[in-house]
Amino acid sequence: MKTLPILILLTATIAPAASARTCTFTINSNDQMRFDTTAINVAPDCTEAVVTLHHTGTLSAKAMGHNWVLTRSADLQPVAMAGMRARFEDDYLPPGDPRVIAHTKLIGGGQTTSVRFSTKLLRKGQAYSFFCSFPGHFALMRGTLSFG
Ligand code: CO
Repeated sequence: MKTLPILILLTATIAPAASARTCTFTINSNDQMRFDTTAINVAPDCTEAVVTLHHTGTLSAKAMGHNWVLTRSADLQPVAMAGMRARFEDDYLPPGDPRVIAHTKLIGGGQTTSVRFSTKLLRKGQAYSFFCSFPGHFALMRGTLSFG
């Protein structure tokens, strides 16, 4: 049993990393102004989330741009309205808006983007929504996200 102290040391070193869990989600969007996902559940043991957005269409970002924006559900409408007044260069989002929990950049057909965020930003039991902030798209391009 001479190796036992070494095993204990290794376990103690590895344990903190083992408690971190990155959960990944993939969403497709298209030229018909749709996401292929309407509900996302982030499991309670996820310490961070990575959302990857694909645009499977062919239209440009200026014509049919898509992004993935996360807010509390109560903030979806006001942030979407503010996004309509924002600039293309700012991904149709008010820069630095604290109501935006996470967002990808705006992409066009054939492009992919992703965003990584800590689940410390989420509360269990809180209703969250995701949407595309390209002007007018949130009416069709939206879904819910929960944590826990
Ligand atoms: Co869009």
